[in-house]
Amino acid sequence: MKIIIDTKENCAKLAAKQYAELLNRKPDCILGLATGSTPEELYKELIALNKAGEISFKQVSSYNLDEYVGLTGEHPQSYRYFMDDKLFNHVDINKDNTHVPCGIDMTDEKAAEYDKEIEKAGGIDLQLLGVGNNGHIAFNEPGTPLDSVTHVVKLTQSTLEANKRFFASIDEVPTEAVCMGIKTIMNARKIILMAYGKNKAEAMAKAIKGKIDLNVPASILQLHPDCTIYMDAEAASQL
Ligand code: GLP
Repeated sequence: MKIIIDTKENCAKLAAKQYAELLNRKPDCILGLATGSTPEELYKELIALNKAGEISFKQVSSYNLDEYVGLTGEHPQSYRYFMDDKLFNHVDINKDNTHVPCGIDMTDEKAAEYDKEIEKAGGIDLQLLGVGNNGHIAFNEPGTPLDSVTHVVKLTQSTLEANKRFFASIDEVPTEAVCMGIKTIMNARKIILMAYGKNKAEAMAKAIKGKIDLNVPASILQLHPDCTIYMDAEAASQL
């Protein structure tokens, strides 16, 4: 793991450079994208680079990590809506090449097809991740097996609590999601994980310094050959 500790603004700029390098070297690359508040700064940087003509998404395909079960793409808290709003609507990507798991009528069997689609497309070149307060990646909650592929998950109370800030009340937070499995994520050729704030400090200390433990899903990234972690001083405060 390569670890970079800097301000949120600098982390976003440095990570954006990694994207620029990839997009210019491989214009038809496959990006694994993430939602949550963490990647927002990075997406702003990517939009700025695109508008400045320094990068193009014209040939890029993307696969998002996860989606809430029960929300259509029109729902403002759906992850499809987030991606359109925070990135896709502002860059030259072909929306037909952007993929977010479908949260409607989803079953584990249908979800696993997402892995096959990714594989058929050539595999993910660069996977972006945030981290949950409990160390989850995507919505892979503690205990998710290493060999898991895209599947339907039941969200833990801790995740419902953390995500209720986006909804009118905790009762409106969907209790299930469909998300890439640990294996899907680990298959990516490169991974970037970003973490900001003291709420992430304990999870990040366990993920980086602790033993590899299924109960801290982010710790499994220690096994990945090309993973860069960008974090601010608060997220790094327990390292
Ligand atoms: C959700 C998402 C994760 C994200 C996490 C942290 O659980 N499924 O992909 O990493 O939230 O969100 P935030 O970046 O807002 O702290």
